[in-house]
Amino acid sequence: MNQTFRPGPAVRGTLTPPPDKSLSHRAALLGAMSSVPVHVTNYLQAADTQSTLDAVVALGADVRHGARRGDFALHGPGLRGARPGAAIDVGNAGTLLRLLPGWLAGQPEGGSWSLDGDESIRRRPVDRVARPLAAMGAQLDARDGRFTPLTIISRPLRGIEYVLPVASAQIKSCVLLAGLLAEGETTVVEPEPSRDHTERLLAAAGAGVRREGDRITVSHRHELRLDALHVPGDPSSAAFHAAAAALVAGSALRIEGMAGNWTRIGFFRILERMGATLGGEGLETRTTAAPDAEPLASVEVGHGPLRGTRVTADEVPLAIDELPLVALLGCFAEGETVVEGAAELRLKESDRIATVVDGLGALGGDLEATEDGFVVRGTGGLRGGTLHAHGDHRLAMLGAVAGLASREGVEVVGMEAAAVSYPGFVADLAALTR
Ligand code: S3P
Repeated sequence: MNQTFRPGPAVRGTLTPPPDKSLSHRAALLGAMSSVPVHVTNYLQAADTQSTLDAVVALGADVRHGARRGDFALHGPGLRGARPGAAIDVGNAGTLLRLLPGWLAGQPEGGSWSLDGDESIRRRPVDRVARPLAAMGAQLDARDGRFTPLTIISRPLRGIEYVLPVASAQIKSCVLLAGLLAEGETTVVEPEPSRDHTERLLAAAGAGVRREGDRITVSHRHELRLDALHVPGDPSSAAFHAAAAALVAGSALRIEGMAGNWTRIGFFRILERMGATLGGEGLETRTTAAPDAEPLASVEVGHGPLRGTRVTADEVPLAIDELPLVALLGCFAEGETVVEGAAELRLKESDRIATVVDGLGALGGDLEATEDGFVVRGTGGLRGGTLHAHGDHRLAMLGAVAGLASREGVEVVGMEAAAVSYPGFVADLAALTR
């Protein structure tokens, strides 16, 4: 579906962003691992998280929907009760693809499962989780050793110490989940902090997770007990409207009910550094503590003259999914905007270094791809034109915001991709720019 986004009026009003995608995946997965039924509220109703709900049902969970959209009671098969034999379709969901093997690999010996997904998933590597799981004793078989279809046969696991080769919350989470089922202790060492939702949920479920500096440790558990879980709004979805507000003069946007977890709000800090106005309450500051809850934030974002900035490797995991928006802001900023240490972008739903640089370049932006990021020379604006989403939800929404801020508008080819994380995106943007 092609959709055109014309240069827009200011972004004004209040947004309640859709429920967080990362937390929704984890609510379904850890909820299914719980021995007691979990009451989930505000679960994301989108393609990606539906794949995860379908997966846990295939593995033996019972889902009873409540009266409100996104509310349900989940009664799972428990930590060691995943029903064997299922062929799981992960759709487009990288988080499901990377987390689920951690749970399945340590089930009672001899169970087998296969995981596969759409065309984009088939290009995304699974060796990053297969390698540590194999070191724990798991038996996995991937196409060319790297890609789906992935077959997992459960075996007894032993705890390991695993130094993450990249700052990835998906790999970290996978190893921690397997660690609950393994003999002894399992420690993951992070090169840089990444989103810590799994650790917070495990702490809430009584799993005795420990953080010491860059080391996170879990040990063999008999059960998990989670009883209630409310999913806050998604900062990665809110970021699109926040960027629009920063770009269009006269904007004043309030965002309510958003996750304020410091490992997720790096983009809002970058936005402020680039010159947008940022207010509100509830944005967590960097902490070395190991919390067991997710803070809620209300944020106010307004337009300001933007200047270029440098985003370095330590900041990248805190804003990984929002880096395409940093490139867009950079086009409008004064001076140069540089993102480095972000080679992981090449392994997302599309190669986001290539698709962002080519996409914004075709709209009149002056950008250059580097091996691990991009350099943007701000020209004060964007002409507009056509942007291909390449089946990538964040590219589609990037194109819409670019159109709003551009001189001539942007036609997005493949706007339907937004439904992977944010089915109501176009309606929300329209409501804020009426
Ligand atoms: C996610 C982690 C990040 C992020 C993805 C969601 C998660 O991926 O890009 O959208 O929920 O753990 P990596 O772990 O590959 O960096």
